[in-house]
Formats: sequence, structure tokens, C-alpha cells
Amino acid sequence: MVTITVCIGSGCHVRGARKIIEKIKQYIVDYDLDCNITLKGCFCQNLCNEGVIVKFNDLLVSGVTTENIISYVKKYVVNR
Ligand code: FES
Repeated sequence: MVTITVCIGSGCHVRGARKIIEKIKQYIVDYDLDCNITLKGCFCQNLCNEGVIVKFNDLLVSGVTTENIISYVKKYVVNR
């Protein structure tokens, strides 16, 4: 089980955090990963200039976009 935590602070929100969450949710449905992923939101991680910030368990990843989020999910959840 991997906990994916997406920053939903205002800085990451304007950089597309909501769309990233939607992409993760859709991926979970498409690949039946409900038992493998817990999806959560968190408040500002004080790295707003590097957002969107996403954590995979305790591993923090910066610069996440709708274009690269699925590659991170594959790397840190599916293929780990
Ligand atoms: S709003 Fe996400 S790091 Fe500040």
C-alpha cells in the first residue's frame, strides 16, 4: 500500500493540483489499484515555487504536472 498525498495549498492549487488528483483517481479506477493506493490531500508544504508537490509515502516529489504524474505513479507504486 502506497499513500499518495497531493498538496492542495493555494500555490499548488493554481498549478493544477485538482487536475492531478483527478488523473490519479482515474488511473486507480482504470487499473483497479484501489487496494494499492490511498489518496490524500495535504496543506502547503512550504515549497510552493516547486509545486505541485506530491508525496509517495515519505518520498517528496516536486514539479508534478498532469503530464508527468502517471509516470511517477508507475515508478513509485506499480513498478516498485
Ligand atoms: S501550496 Fe503546495 S507547497 Fe505551498
